[in-house]
Amino acid sequence: MKLTIIGSGYVGLTTGACLAEVGHHVMCVDNDARKIETLLAGKIPIYEPGLENMVRKNVVSKRLQFTTSTEEGVNFGEVIFIAVPTPPQPDGSVDLSFIEKVAREIAVCLDSYRVIVDKSTVPVKTGERVAHTIRRYAKAGVEFDVVSNPEFLREGSAVDDLMNPDRIVIGGNSDRALALMQKVYEPFVAPVLVTDINSAELIKHAANSFLALKISYINAVSEICEVSGADVEKVAEGIGMDKRIGRSFLNAGLGYGGSCFPKDIAAFIAIAEQLGTPFTLLKEVQNINTHQFTRFLDAVREALWVLKEKKIAVWGLSFKPNTDDVRSSVAVNIVEALVAEGADVTAYDPKAMEKFKDLPVSAKVKLAESPLEAARGAEALIIATEWADFASVDLAELRNIMRAPLIFDGRNLLDPTAAQAYGFQYRGIGRGT
Ligand code: UGA
Repeated sequence: MKLTIIGSGYVGLTTGACLAEVGHHVMCVDNDARKIETLLAGKIPIYEPGLENMVRKNVVSKRLQFTTSTEEGVNFGEVIFIAVPTPPQPDGSVDLSFIEKVAREIAVCLDSYRVIVDKSTVPVKTGERVAHTIRRYAKAGVEFDVVSNPEFLREGSAVDDLMNPDRIVIGGNSDRALALMQKVYEPFVAPVLVTDINSAELIKHAANSFLALKISYINAVSEICEVSGADVEKVAEGIGMDKRIGRSFLNAGLGYGGSCFPKDIAAFIAIAEQLGTPFTLLKEVQNINTHQFTRFLDAVREALWVLKEKKIAVWGLSFKPNTDDVRSSVAVNIVEALVAEGADVTAYDPKAMEKFKDLPVSAKVKLAESPLEAARGAEALIIATEWADFASVDLAELRNIMRAPLIFDGRNLLDPTAAQAYGFQYRGIGRGT
């Protein structure tokens, strides 16, 4: 099939590459000419395991093309995916202006039947508005259908998630459009759930919010573990063994971050409010997430007494491992808080240091070449992201090069007994005090 993706960011680019990989002819559109040039050269602007090779291979085989022209894209694909950003507004609701603009741009180029698919994460009822907008701006009599097809990929495992999804959700109100969508996903071995448009849109917000709820739940439990001397790792294991609960997304830590969860939970709260059905449970999810961060910093302050001029090492800057993404990263928030209180911070991250350099706080932070270099002479070490590399650092050497033996493990990455055996004062999350 001939498919078009409008917006070549994280979701658009990965979707385009994977759809080309399974045999479709894909044209990715982006209005950023520099980005398109980079992509045509077979390079990608993000770190995502396996993606660069897949893009290069499909560009060479000409199954994957790039353009800056929406008109070219609309003429090319029988199905047109919209994958543009949906950034948050100060009140938590979503800025849908990119979606609205693309809908108008598509409308004026429409000459014959097309399926227009919303892939971006949007609040329920957006599809209806997209359809109205296209109808208003398109030539009289031109046929089209709007479909919602939310994306569930995780950064860091985006290619694998797209190639082997748990499920494919297709929300549509027309048999013609649904049949074409089934054809798009025929090469994938995954259950397909067909729904109406509103339900598909809601599934995405409800799924992300439920995952965030699991995280906040275990984080709230972690605080009770600390005051009672229980171990949250064991508690998570024990409750996760119940198949109805499951162990995943029960890792206690500094709280969730990234470009999706904080934004999507706020957006779900905002749309529920707009619809007159306030979702107060999700407000508590947000409160717990903030509280988890605050009490971690309080523990650092309590142990170090004074932060000003203290040399503190921070391992990890990305919002989670296996990505270079620092958007809404809790690790970056930690660095910002330490710097604001006058601490002398040296950080290390295996992949995210380049993107970190674009943030204002980076001017006040030293970056090291390795985890051990970051920790040299430090009076405390904070583990802010659970990169696997950090777990294999030689603790004896770490102890030798640090000025004071304090570890704050915000992701429960190290074994407390091993750390203590090397003479560290170790503080994890929910592992007693
Ligand atoms: C998330 C969802 O997992 C995807 O299904 C969804 O498609 C995506 O958002 C999106 O909406 O586009 P992602 O943001 O890449 O994916 O990252 P996650 O792996 O879900 O992690 C989110 C945050 O939760 C991270 O900060 C992570 O450190 C934190 N987390 C995750 C925990 O604190 N504990 C856990 O047990 C799991």
